[in-house]
Amino acid sequence: MPQEHSLSYRTAVVTGASSGIGAATVEKLAAAGLEVHAVARRGDRLEELHKRTGCIVHALDVTDTQACVEALGGLDVDVLVNNAGVSHNDRLYDFPADAIDKIIDLNLRAVMHLTRLFLPGMMKRNHGHVVIVSSMAGHYPMLGSAPYSATKAAVSQFLDVMRLDTNGSRLRWTEIVPGRVATEAFGVVMGDHKAAQEKFLDGKEPLQADDLAGMIMFALSAPAHVNISRIDAYPVRQASGGFVYSG
Ligand SMILES: NC(=O)c1ccc[n+]([C@@H]2O[C@H](COP(=O)([O-])OP(=O)(O)OC[C@H]3O[C@@H](n4cnc5c(N)ncnc54)[C@H](OP(=O)(O)O)[C@@H]3O)[C@@H](O)[C@H]2O)c1
Repeated sequence: MPQEHSLSYRTAVVTGASSGIGAATVEKLAAAGLEVHAVARRGDRLEELHKRTGCIVHALDVTDTQACVEALGGLDVDVLVNNAGVSHNDRLYDFPADAIDKIIDLNLRAVMHLTRLFLPGMMKRNHGHVVIVSSMAGHYPMLGSAPYSATKAAVSQFLDVMRLDTNGSRLRWTEIVPGRVATEAFGVVMGDHKAAQEKFLDGKEPLQADDLAGMIMFALSAPAHVNISRIDAYPVRQASGGFVYSG
């Protein structure tokens, strides 16, 4: 079967692989011939993905650092795609306390621990690429998203520092910054997938998960001397910020 992309990498770990951007990325990496480790909590979804792509599945919660060490710690990983993420939308004075912890644990703490887990091997081999899926909400204010936006801004700064920490090596660090993408994320936040589809996606021409997976593959397949540090991608009919004079 012809391969879409030619990559210098052999193994990859993708978090949040049971749906959306993560699942689409596993599909493309597997099609490009990599050994792909797909990580998420829903084992049934991962099994379906395994049947489609041959990926190796790890049904685990990435906020459980010890479980990640036990399941993944022995792997020589060339590519880590830190994609798993969660959101909740409320003004902070209405925000459930436990939602703040869940967002920080998954979107920030787990990202750092997983990166730290694979970094020594990448440094030793002088070969590796870490991708983080952040969000436009980490770069522009989004009403009701203070904890989510703060974590996404933090991973952006984390990547900037990692480029410095590993400067002089051949490691590469890429931030993918999506606007609205047609995934289950909105239904997860609202607790109602049909209502979320109607409110956030229908008629809005959102990006597709496959579009983002293509951008990740673009960054991974750049020539070895090129680090694609950041890709911002909006749907054509979405924009951030701006203000109008009212009179
Ligand atoms: N959709 C958008 O409009 C949009 C825009 C900007 C940025 N993003 C970012 O894109 C990334 C991917 O989201 P998506 O849009 O593809 O949404 P999604 O379809 O809801 O995917 C989220 C993934 O994260 C996994 N996950 C959640 N909690 C986890 C945990 N504790 N441990 C392991 N995996 C966990 C979920 O799987 P399980 O439930 O099976 O664990 C799922 O596979 C996120 O970081 C999100 O913030 C999305």
